[in-house]
Amino acid sequence: MIKHFTVLAAAAAVSLAAGAAVAQDDYPTQPITMVVPFSAGGPTDTVTRLIAEPMGKALGQQFVIQNVTGAGGTVAAGQVANAEPDGYTVLMHHIGMSTAPTLYPNLPYDPLEDFETIGLVTEVPMTIVARKDFPAETLQEMIDYVKEHADEVTLANAGIGAASQLCGMLFMDAIGTQLTTVPYPGTGPALTDLVGGQVDIMCDQTTNTTGQILGGEVKAYAVTAEERLANLPDVPTTAEAGLGDFQLRIWHGLYVPAGTDPAIVEKLSSALQTALQDQNVIDRFAELGTTVVSQDRATPEAHTEMLSSQIELWAPIIKAAGVTAE
Ligand code: MLT
Repeated sequence: MIKHFTVLAAAAAVSLAAGAAVAQDDYPTQPITMVVPFSAGGPTDTVTRLIAEPMGKALGQQFVIQNVTGAGGTVAAGQVANAEPDGYTVLMHHIGMSTAPTLYPNLPYDPLEDFETIGLVTEVPMTIVARKDFPAETLQEMIDYVKEHADEVTLANAGIGAASQLCGMLFMDAIGTQLTTVPYPGTGPALTDLVGGQVDIMCDQTTNTTGQILGGEVKAYAVTAEERLANLPDVPTTAEAGLGDFQLRIWHGLYVPAGTDPAIVEKLSSALQTALQDQNVIDRFAELGTTVVSQDRATPEAHTEMLSSQIELWAPIIKAAGVTAE
């Protein structure tokens, strides 16, 4: 009798494995959810929607964008860490994946253990901007004003763990002045308030601020890039503007839950590489001040290397700044 059951159990295991193999081979057979950790209309959302379209074409299935906000992107990352590892839930996230472990002592996930990396996407420079009637024409004048009126000036960001919060933290550190920070679910709504004059300054990615800068709706004092940007030729670098070695680019990457079949990871990585060769993506990124990463960086290996080195890089800097979410 035992022999009989053993044979049945083995047969069941084989057919289960065969079924799983078919699932991976046929993947994807339904739309894929792409989770964005910040509000619609912000820089992360913009990058995601640009690459989701050609990725979907390459895979033969649509991506459905889901904006999951809160806690500087960690709510979304936690949700994806616990999702089914079936390839139908993908996370787009940025440098915040590497700062969260230090900022959140009780982070409910481990960025390296609880995800599979798919590949890097882009590294976006940031702009130091202010409401258009802010009483300063140069970065030095802005810093002088901010120092003198520290108890009045407000600094917008997308919550602890956001790129805008990291840049704001570094900026306050660099000028030796703490300001009142105003958190938003994303820098999309934050920029709306900056244009409306409800907040004073912000450090945000060019993928969000370019349009408002060129439209004269906000003041731009500097870009956090090594050289001036072709799409914002009149905005000085932080070095030119007197802030010294203040460079920061916000790298973005794609993730799926740990345990996702390597064949599915490979399909997603290959679709990402295809998307990064799409002319519309390349042109739109250029208009927004950024570029696609090279093909060899749109790989799980390069992405994991970036993530682990960045976790190590930011930990002492954040600890020295004394910033924590708890
Ligand atoms: C941030 O980290 O500041 C986010 O990129 C903001 C956003 O994408 O809305």
